Amino acid sequence: MKSGLFITFEGVDGSGKSTQLRRAVQYIRQRGHRVVVTREPGGTRTGERVRDILLASKTGKLAPLAELALMYAARAQVLEEVVRPALARGEVVVSDRYNTASFAYQGYGRQLGTPTVRAFDRVICGSTQPDLTIILDIDPERARGRALGDARRGSHLDRIEAASLAFHKRVRAGYLAIARRAPERIKLVCAEQSIDELQNQIRALIEPLLARRNRNSKLETRKS
Ligand code: TMP
Repeated sequence: MKSGLFITFEGVDGSGKSTQLRRAVQYIRQRGHRVVVTREPGGTRTGERVRDILLASKTGKLAPLAELALMYAARAQVLEEVVRPALARGEVVVSDRYNTASFAYQGYGRQLGTPTVRAFDRVICGSTQPDLTIILDIDPERARGRALGDARRGSHLDRIEAASLAFHKRVRAGYLAIARRAPERIKLVCAEQSIDELQNQIRALIEPLLARRNRNSKLETRKS
């Protein structure tokens, strides 16, 4: 059976993750791989509707468990519609956030704890875990400065971005703790460097996985 490659990007709000993801996707495509790009919460019609509920300020306060359940509801949908089919076709899936965000934001940020998030994760993600997770690390206070800058330029802060600085500090601490527990799969990169420098580091993390795929597909071609 073919199996693809699953790469996820993570980081506190304002870390510059989406820009880096776009450039990384360009790079993977240039190297000749088919890439499916998605995001969470969202990535499907239903998931995008769930995203609206989760991020709209007019939603107001959500019970932390309701927030977690909605994140996993959107995830169940994108896994079924997008991620698992693409991986089964042997493609590269790049997701702007995935389950590590739930561990960091709901587990640490909302203080639900890792075991509660893990319970959802076992049922909904199961063995569909990323091959590589890249966390863009930045001090939330500085990242917040960037987000507020954007807000003043017109894009307003969403419900989660608008949460307290203490919340965002717990999220960052969560990401750091999670990365320490799985250093072979979860890589931290410092987001406070130039866009090009950061992109080079990210490409260096992705490259060995692409090279391994190329070697494996050559072996398969030789066998057949
Ligand atoms: P983003 O698209 O800018 O990354 O925004 C998504 C927001 O949702 C961001 O504040 C992080 C948050 N989030 C969670 O709290 N838990 C999750 O599981 C995911 C995927 C996102």
